[in-house]
Amino acid sequence: MNKTYRGVALVTGASSGIGRATAISLQEAGYRVFGTSRRSTVEGPAGVTMLTCDVTDDASVTTLVEQVLKEAGQIDLLINNAGIGIFGGAEESSLTQAKALFDVNVFGVFRMTKAVLPVMRRRGSGRIVNISSAQGFIPAPYFSLYAATKHAIEGYSQSLDHEVRTFGIRVVLVEPAYTRTAFEESLIPPDQMLEIYGAARAGMTTVIEKAMQQGDTPDTVAATVLKAATDATPKLQYPAGKQARQVSFLRRFVPSAAFDRSLRKMLRLPG
Ligand SMILES: NC(=O)c1ccc[n+]([C@@H]2O[C@H](COP(=O)([O-])OP(=O)(O)OC[C@H]3O[C@@H](n4cnc5c(N)ncnc54)[C@H](OP(=O)(O)O)[C@@H]3O)[C@@H](O)[C@H]2O)c1
Repeated sequence: MNKTYRGVALVTGASSGIGRATAISLQEAGYRVFGTSRRSTVEGPAGVTMLTCDVTDDASVTTLVEQVLKEAGQIDLLINNAGIGIFGGAEESSLTQAKALFDVNVFGVFRMTKAVLPVMRRRGSGRIVNISSAQGFIPAPYFSLYAATKHAIEGYSQSLDHEVRTFGIRVVLVEPAYTRTAFEESLIPPDQMLEIYGAARAGMTTVIEKAMQQGDTPDTVAATVLKAATDATPKLQYPAGKQARQVSFLRRFVPSAAFDRSLRKMLRLPG
């Protein structure tokens, strides 16, 4: 049944933005694609089978993987894309809010990966593409909790890759910079807002709005995901788009004190 397909791909958070563009691009590249949304009413792109899943829910993840296996018999490619963000000073979020963010962006990735790895191990092949961010390898003031989730994914993915390579499985990272999706509108405000951060918040809002206007399209990121999914000899990290590639280069080669100064200047932070 799968003979005519290049493989079976599962994309979390395929209802919008990067996930949706990725599902389309994988489908066009010959994969049989399953995409997820928490909402059962969401209509996916043509040719993509949409299933319901909340990555914070163990049972929901287990059911999802069972459904895909029942319909397609295998999973060759997992794209851990579902994610959310919080915009605010680090001390403005309660621990409860921070944990909820980690439950989606970090534990959601762990849950999905743990559910799919046995399937890939049995076949002796597979690839997992984790959608990180440029904020997974640089400091991100007022996005500190979000940046912490993406830094966690970077460490997890690069470590896991060494563990599962012996089973024919590779784990790689895609690192987008600002991308024009619903992400910005969906940013969660801190639940313990402090007046002291009001001016910084207003300044950062302007910086983000401007950066978003010049941001990449989800299609640009999807093209990088396709490359990360299909490269015969994959790289560990794939910065997606011009901005992310530039930042990745600067992060590696600019001395840290100079990087620190230029980051503050770019974000218009005083001092
Ligand atoms: N946009 C950017 O500037 C940017 C930059 C770097 C990295 N990223 C990363 O790219 C990924 C996709 O973001 P996007 O920009 O495409 O944002 P988006 O358009 O808001 O899409 C987010 C997706 O995540 C899903 N989702 C959210 N919470 C979920 C949960 N608990 N369980 C399952 N699915 C959930 C949403 O699905 P439903 O609401 O339908 O369930 C939606 O499909 C995220 O990991 C984000 O961190 C984005």
